[in-house]
Formats: sequence, structure tokens, C-alpha cells
Amino acid sequence: MGKMTIDGRLVEFTDEKNVLSVIRKAGIDIPTLCYVSELSTYGSCRLCTVEDERGKTFASCSEVPRDGMVIYTNTPRLRKYRKMILELLLAAHDRDCTTCVVSGSCHLLELAQRVGVNHVRFRNTRELQPLDDSSPSILRNPNKCILCGDCVRMCTDIQGINAIDFAYRGTDALVTPAFNRKLTETGCVGCGQCRIVCPTGAITVVSDIEPVMEALADPQTIVVAQIAPAVRLALGDKFGMPKGENVMGRIVSIMHRMGFDEIYDTTYGADLTVLEESKELLEHVSSGKGVPLFTSCCPAWVQHCEKKYPDLAKYISTCRSPMQMFGAVIREYFRDPEHNAGKKLVNVAIMPCTAKKGEILRPESRTRGIQDVDYVITTEELSSIIEQSGIVFDKVEIESADVPFGIGSGSGMIFGITGGVTEAVMRRLQRGHDRAAMRAITESGVRGMEG
Ligand code: FES
Repeated sequence: MGKMTIDGRLVEFTDEKNVLSVIRKAGIDIPTLCYVSELSTYGSCRLCTVEDERGKTFASCSEVPRDGMVIYTNTPRLRKYRKMILELLLAAHDRDCTTCVVSGSCHLLELAQRVGVNHVRFRNTRELQPLDDSSPSILRNPNKCILCGDCVRMCTDIQGINAIDFAYRGTDALVTPAFNRKLTETGCVGCGQCRIVCPTGAITVVSDIEPVMEALADPQTIVVAQIAPAVRLALGDKFGMPKGENVMGRIVSIMHRMGFDEIYDTTYGADLTVLEESKELLEHVSSGKGVPLFTSCCPAWVQHCEKKYPDLAKYISTCRSPMQMFGAVIREYFRDPEHNAGKKLVNVAIMPCTAKKGEILRPESRTRGIQDVDYVITTEELSSIIEQSGIVFDKVEIESADVPFGIGSGSGMIFGITGGVTEAVMRRLQRGHDRAAMRAITESGVRGMEG
């Protein structure tokens, strides 16, 4: 507990971990590039630099608040520093901003505009680096990297994967996998968390928008999509709907208007998974194969276990994820000439996770040698397709998902929650499905992180 003076006003602080947090608490939004509150502090960009009463400058993200401090956040000197820092970062950055995937949402560009950088005086002297497009989920463009290290710390501190790190020194410094390998030659699981914290277009998601749009335009193709439960909440957020509102009806309506022939709910696939996983658990218990039986719809989790903890991989359920089970069912259903009307099927899954793009390529994601799901479109890609279509999100009529796969149970619905699959399997294996028995399972604490 203490007090400091920020720009002439007294501000109290309690357990804020750095001066930057106290400044933000005081309602001042100073620019930052390398500070992400969940990650360890790196202090490399120096954009958050402030000045004290003696004219000493320091990075506010790396300074612990002390009682009696006097700091200034917006002096002419600081404004000059920030402008120069951004100019130098832009000078070492591939500036084809108008066609960049993150154009419009680039944090670097936003800050440059905010501090008034309207031209860059320096030449880019960095050698052009090749793109790393080896991963089915993540595209790395080292030429857009500003070495803030956010991706490195996310991959290491939070995800525990360690796929990328800093290499070389000075102007040769790079963020790269060890020995300049490709992402696919590392422990990368395609989770995409590095992309979420990247403030530029250096890490982006591999886009599957084009082939899906081509399929929609092809009259000889029947395009079928399944939509994961998480998408219906996240997409509403993106289009400014009230937080937590289920917008499945709007998504179905818009996708029908865009030309998708059939739209199903992945909850149906989750129900299939509950049936199979319950059976597998019973087998494990009764045949003495042993428990635990691990399961996750997240292919990044599965890959991480396989790559880092191979001795535990035998405990992973052999069941496919709901997306893959359902993908196989859709493929089979439209094999029937009565259902495909002589057209070729393009099987699309709308998923919340970049790693799903890699899951569809796994050898066990094929039936009779044919890949079951053709393309995975993430929530963000779907929102970009909707924006391109010009259809106004909150003006469309609500429609239900198509039959015969448009329905799902509550058990399928809770799949996305931690412990949800376990609860669904327990419900399935419970003798007698009366309300009291179901409530007892829900209240047993199996769902959620605690216990
Ligand atoms: Fe403080 Fe980058 S945000 S040094």
C-alpha cells in the first residue's frame, strides 16, 4: 500500500506489480508493445518509458511501485522517445501494410499512428527471411517480427512448449525455432496462442477461406458445414452482440445465404463421442487395461501429450474428437447418391481453434483413405467471410441448423467446459437418468478446475 504522484495527481496503489499497472489504474493508457500482463516482464520495447522528477527515465513495466514516487508519463522528451522507437521498429519491419493480413488490427501500426509517426527516415537494412509455412495452422513471417518476445514467452511460460526462441545477436537477432528449423520440426502443437499475442503480422493463422469460397461458387459441389458450440458465443462478441448471447441461429441463416447447402451442429458429434468414450471407459475398467483414461477435443493437448509425455499417450482415449466423428458421419451420409445429388462433397468444420487445422490431416482422421473433413475455418475466418459477404449480422432472421444432424443433447453441449466430457460420460453411465441422479453428478464438482 502506498501513494505516488503521476502527472501531478496523487494515486494510491496496493498490490500492483509494476508502475505501469498503477499508471493504467490512474486512467492513463501509455503505449506498450512487449508487455502482456499474464506473461513474465521482458522490458525490451521501452515504449512504456516514463520520467521521474529528476529527469531519470525508466521502463514502467519493469519498475516496482514505491511509496512517494513522482513520475511523468507525457513529457516532450518521452513523446520524442516513443516516436523514435516506433520509427526504428517500422524501419526494420516489412511495411507492405496495406495488404497485410492484420491490416486494420495491427498493434504496431495503431501505436505508430497514435504517436504521430507519419514517415520513416531510415532504410530497412535487414536481410529478407523466408516465410515458414510448414505448419497447417500457423504462418510465420520473420520479416514482420519486431522482436518483442511476446510469442516466445507465451510459448514458454504459459503453454510450456518451447517451440521458438531468440537466436543470433544485434541486427541479426531473430525469433525462430532452434537451428532455424521449420515449426513442424519442433514441439509446436499449432495452438495459436503465439498468434494471439503477436502485435504485428509476424504470426498469423493459415487461411482456408479461398478454397471454401471457391467450393461455394461451384455448382457441382455440395458444401456442408458443422459448427462447434464455442463459435456461437465468440462470434456474437465479434459483431457487438450482448456478451454470452448464443448467435447460432444468425450464423446458420448467414451461412445459408452465403451458399452453404447444409449446416449442422457439432453438438451432435459430441453426443456420438460420449457414447463411444463411455464404452471405452467401461472396457478399460472391466478388462483391467487400467485408468486413468484421458480425453480432450483439443488436438493441441493430444499432440503435446504425444510429443512431450509419450509414456502417458497409452492412456489417451482412442475415440476421435466430436469434429472428426461427425466429419466421418457427414462424409458417409453424403456418399449416398440420394443425398449428394451427384455432386462432390466439401466437408467444412467451423471451429474455435487453429490446431483443428492440423487435426484433419492426421492419419486417423481419414476413412477408407479419404480425409473426412476438408477444411477447418476458425471463428475469426468466419467473421471475415461474413464481413466480405456484406450481410449485416444483426439484421438477419434466425434459422435452425439442418436435419438430420442439427440437434444435440445437454451432455454434448458441455463438452467445451473443463470436466464437461467427464460429466457427460458419468451421466451416460449412470443407472437411471432421473433428475435427482443427474443433478447429483452436476453437483459432484467434476466440472470445472477445482477438484
Ligand atoms: Fe515496457 Fe515494452 S512495454 S518495455
